[in-house]
Amino acid sequence: MKYDFCYYNPTRIHFGKSALDNLGAELSSYGDNILLMYGRGSVKATGLYDEIMAILKASGKKVTELSGIKSNPTYAQLQEGARLVRENDIDFILAVGGGSVIDCAKGVSVAAYCEGDAWERFWINGEEPTERIIPVGSVLTMAGTASEMNGGSVITNEEVMLKNGKVFGPAVYPKFSILNPEYTFTVPKNQMVSGIYDVFSHLCEQYFSGDDDNTTDYLIEGVLASLITAARAALKNPEDYEARSNIMWCATLGLNTVTGLSKTQDWEVHMIEHQVGAYTDCPHGLGLAVVSIPYYKHIYKYGIDKFVRFAKNVWNIDTDNMTKDEAALAGIEALSAFIRELGIPQTLRELGATEEMLPKIANSTVLGGGYKQVTADDVLAILKEAF
Ligand code: NZQ
Ligand code: ZN
Repeated sequence: MKYDFCYYNPTRIHFGKSALDNLGAELSSYGDNILLMYGRGSVKATGLYDEIMAILKASGKKVTELSGIKSNPTYAQLQEGARLVRENDIDFILAVGGGSVIDCAKGVSVAAYCEGDAWERFWINGEEPTERIIPVGSVLTMAGTASEMNGGSVITNEEVMLKNGKVFGPAVYPKFSILNPEYTFTVPKNQMVSGIYDVFSHLCEQYFSGDDDNTTDYLIEGVLASLITAARAALKNPEDYEARSNIMWCATLGLNTVTGLSKTQDWEVHMIEHQVGAYTDCPHGLGLAVVSIPYYKHIYKYGIDKFVRFAKNVWNIDTDNMTKDEAALAGIEALSAFIRELGIPQTLRELGATEEMLPKIANSTVLGGGYKQVTADDVLAILKEAF
């Protein structure tokens, strides 16, 4: 464990078929004014909305609703939530949905009493909030982002065409999250595979960094093995509880910071995808999958030993008679085959990108980078290959 770290995660997780039974007790520590945030209809279609309203009513809560939170939530929706918090003297925000609703809820929680423009302060300048933060809890309905157990809040500001992520400290993490894998049975297939690839990418973007012998890398390989097995089972039978529950927990582990400990981490694929998302509004994980293969082909030589290890330990490829180059590329090809197996589109064009967008995306991507520090020109080359 080469780099020092401090590990603390304050989110209490209730996992399993009876997880929702804990909602009333969780909310009893907070005031009665609840802002209930959800998406564009799935919670009503599945009946979860009625179940939650019944619990809130039985607990004597006064509920204000903010519905219609879209995938890739916008700063305008976040500001609407902040206004509702102030006008209704909200004590607690309950987010019911996937990463978009939870991310937006965290944004509302810090923006409500923020002095000055929250976008500038948090999503551009990366400040930590010093004003009152409204506590958030979540009921997760789609596996992927790990927003249920982290401080991430990824927001699209449509006025400036930027999709930026801010990682807040533990004060903004959900106080609790309720994870019932059965809720994910109704997630449409393209969103299910988007979530699965999002998890895959989180794990890879932490794995592909560093050259030391680090327990975290072994942990990531184990989580990837479970994710691959569970993804294949869920593709065959979307109502396979064992598969869906494993995917859900892999997702939480994938970005609750435990799989990033003592790792420098990469995140360039996410940086590129966020701007692809700002322009195309594509499902996050699908954008990641399309960008990943050209990106990894672009950088693998700079971290070749780790890519060889990826081929061997994640894809069980016998690399004994291969050169390092051949082995690394075989691992990337196995990943590409897995993406095809998930039925994910192969090109940015299929996700709604146009050729004119590519330079704009390249120029507005925040550059990170693991084994190789990429430039805007590199990003443009990667985008052209993905197009
Ligand atoms: O809006 P509704 O009707 O609820 O439908 C949603 C939405 O259309 C649907 N859905 C969710 N649960 C369902 C369901 N449909 C049927 N049954 C259910 N049980 O699925 C669609 C996608 O939901 P969304 O929340 O957008 O997906 P996801 O969880 O992938 O979140 C994506 C957002 O999270 C950000 C992404 O950039 C993107 O904006 N991320 C957040 C991160 C974090 N907080 O740490 C990290 C990630 O890397 C990511 O960037
Ligand atoms: Zn992601």
